[in-house]
Amino acid sequence: MSIVAGALFTAVCVGDLYVGWLAPRFGVPTPVTLRVPYGPMVIRERGDSSRITYEHTRIVVPRGAVLRESSDDHRTAFAFESLRRPPSLGHLLSTFTIHVFVCLMLTAYLRRFGQSRARLLRTQAGILMLVFGSLVLAKGLLLFTALPEFWVPMAALPLWVALVFDRRTAFLIEVAVAFVAASLLRFDLLLLCVLLVRGIAATLFFFNRRNPRQQMLMAGTLAGAAGAIGFIALTTLFQGRFDLAGDLMKGAGSYVLACLGGGLMAGVLARMLRDPAERLMGHVSREKLLDLTDLEQPLLKKMAAEAPGSWEHARAMANLAEASAAAIHADALLTRVGAYYHDLGKTVQPKYFIENLGHGERSPHEELEPDISADAIMTHVVMGAKILRDGKIPEPIVEFAYTHHGTQLVEYFWHKCREQGNPKGLGEDHFRYPGMKPQTKETAILMLVDSIEAASRTIMPPEQKKFEEMIQRVIFTKLSAGQLDESGLTIEDLRVMTSRMASTLVNMYHGRVKYPWQRESLAPSTATPLPSGVAAHARGRDASASKSPVPSVKSDSSVSASNRPTMPAAVQPSEPSAKDHDDLSGEK
Ligand SMILES: [Fe+2]
Ligand SMILES: [Fe+2]
Repeated sequence: MSIVAGALFTAVCVGDLYVGWLAPRFGVPTPVTLRVPYGPMVIRERGDSSRITYEHTRIVVPRGAVLRESSDDHRTAFAFESLRRPPSLGHLLSTFTIHVFVCLMLTAYLRRFGQSRARLLRTQAGILMLVFGSLVLAKGLLLFTALPEFWVPMAALPLWVALVFDRRTAFLIEVAVAFVAASLLRFDLLLLCVLLVRGIAATLFFFNRRNPRQQMLMAGTLAGAAGAIGFIALTTLFQGRFDLAGDLMKGAGSYVLACLGGGLMAGVLARMLRDPAERLMGHVSREKLLDLTDLEQPLLKKMAAEAPGSWEHARAMANLAEASAAAIHADALLTRVGAYYHDLGKTVQPKYFIENLGHGERSPHEELEPDISADAIMTHVVMGAKILRDGKIPEPIVEFAYTHHGTQLVEYFWHKCREQGNPKGLGEDHFRYPGMKPQTKETAILMLVDSIEAASRTIMPPEQKKFEEMIQRVIFTKLSAGQLDESGLTIEDLRVMTSRMASTLVNMYHGRVKYPWQRESLAPSTATPLPSGVAAHARGRDASASKSPVPSVKSDSSVSASNRPTMPAAVQPSEPSAKDHDDLSGEK
């Protein structure tokens, strides 16, 4: 990918040098603006050829100007262009190598240190496409206008990256973009410095992601001011003096105004093209995510109507997943939305999942062979992705559907198949989910929470320590199965999440003081039936208890904010399962 991007950048950089009709000729208007980069020049004074002066300057011959041999500037610009046309093989290879190096360093950094989605190949491809677009814009501005080169609005890209990922990533992108843009003018030192100052300032001033529209304009403007100050300081350093009033009098040709205008233009561009830029980087805006949490969304209504048990499971998961993501600074809102939509595939055949069966209702799995049952369970991953894509749900949300079970085994039916002697001679892979392992922290959190939320219902009493033990067991199971290998979750993330999830669960299941009528109704002889889903969960986790009589409620925590049913010791599992939530769904 870096080689392709490097080749594209090189094409933009030197492509015009191969076009014959763009070459300047004396006596005719120049078809493009000719620019000699800023640099030192030795000038022999007229009249007294023994006196030479040394000064820093740049030459710009505007597009359409008739080239005259009598003009020193025109002759210098012509000589500079003649040197470049056509570019030598060495020139071409050097430009290509530098661009590939920049792209390689950028993508390697993102892969190694990038935040969640920045590590994905498609996100990096999107970023490189945005760099390419910015480069084409800058090249057009340099070739077809006579405006100073400082007008190029390269700071738009770090603003988008700061919005979508974080400012640390934006900082690196800015450095890469500044080098690539400066390569258009043979790494003009002053241009490179101003672009770096402006990009870094834009990144630093973009500190409130919750109000990006105003922030982008403000960050762009302040970055422009920083760039102008940097330009004045550097010019004074190179030339010994800087005539600010004289420069401002040039109007559109003013370099100070160009430094300011380039920053402002970057802010305006970043604001105007924010949506397509976000889409290219595979990001869903906060506005869109908030819209997707609206319970009036047709797909959510469909799930609530067709698979009510699964919908309740998704909602319970959403709270836990959001808290976990927030604890490790992952995208909490994205994780919440992912939780809402991840099991939408269950609406196709809801009765194959235990949580959607009514009290006393028979499970269709009772009449099915284990491999057919496993297929029915696994189908929800594929169908979920299809339904979401058909419903025009953004791809980062669809990702939760096909990664939340990773490539795990549907263990229950695999064991059932083996217990029956495996008459069809099926392999383990036949019982493996057809998805892929979580690629981001957010999708990995959902995979963990999918199991933890179900297992948490079996923990009694609901204490921090017991929840932590159960969560650690789930995490260890996923880790040892290699399901978290590609997620980017660190050991520290797992430790912090364990603690936060346990305290969230304690709060979700905390006990309340009983009302008098409840105390009366909870006399020792009183029995309260468990909802079928919970009873089934208990059976799933402790086969020996699966034939237990209807349990009685005896704990204070039986009356909780979430109406959590309480299981007596007889039906409580000694070891909470770390199995997949849907793996248990077919046990009834
Ligand atoms: Fe699922
Ligand atoms: Fe689920």
